[in-house]
Amino acid sequence: MKRELRTEDAEMALFGVTPEFARLGKSLTAIDSNPNMIGALWIGDEATRRAVVGNWLDLPLADRSVDAIIGDGCLSAVISETQRLRCLEEMARILKPGGRAAIRLFARPSKTEPLGAIKADALAGKVKALAEIVLRTALSLPVAAPDYGLKMSAVLDGINEMFGDRAELMAAGGWQPGAFAFIDLYKGSDTICCWLNEDIHVAEASRYFNDVRLVASGGYPVAERCSILVVSSPRS
Ligand SMILES: C[S@@+](CC[C@H](N)C(=O)[O-])C[C@H]1O[C@@H](n2cnc3c(N)ncnc32)[C@H](O)[C@@H]1O
Repeated sequence: MKRELRTEDAEMALFGVTPEFARLGKSLTAIDSNPNMIGALWIGDEATRRAVVGNWLDLPLADRSVDAIIGDGCLSAVISETQRLRCLEEMARILKPGGRAAIRLFARPSKTEPLGAIKADALAGKVKALAEIVLRTALSLPVAAPDYGLKMSAVLDGINEMFGDRAELMAAGGWQPGAFAFIDLYKGSDTICCWLNEDIHVAEASRYFNDVRLVASGGYPVAERCSILVVSSPRS
């Protein structure tokens, strides 16, 4: 992210409050619609960085006011094609000429992985983080164009169908029951996330930016599903 955004001297906007990105840039404004998320995750306001409650679809930032935008999964966190396009339009509006946005994607692989493969890997002890099971499951369940939306409660249902009472899963991964608390928060949740593939992300971004690229985000498990979408040169 630092390399792609040349963050050292940048005035930045962060979509969400991802702590790992909060100290990037010369100055930074983090925007999240959920005050509880700000309360739970934000590093605290300082002279050069602040978090505000706001909507990425109607950003509380002036036209051409930031050098760089950064976000982790934010194009999956909005709930429809209309909202994704609006979010990209807002990015284009607030970027200064020459500015760039880098957004880590959660993107479906070109060939959908069968749920059985996730189950087999997990029960063989090959999965190191439960978040990997959540992401792989979400990216494997059926979704429909043009929104590609899925309730997070359906992702939890999929996980429960695969692992039943979780005893075998816990034994395979060495996890304690408490490790599942963040997954169980999705029970009955109406939260919708969108799970589309890289090609569609690139096509949507290309409606608002002349320069659209995908960059690898590292070598960690599932990194190949988490490319960084780098966009610049907004279309006028
Ligand atoms: C940035 S995403 C993902 C962050 C984290 N890195 C992760 O992977 O879970 C989650 C955040 O998006 C926020 N969010 C979703 N839609 C939003 C919108 N339209 N405007 C502002 N914040 C939004 C949610 O409140 C939530 O805090």
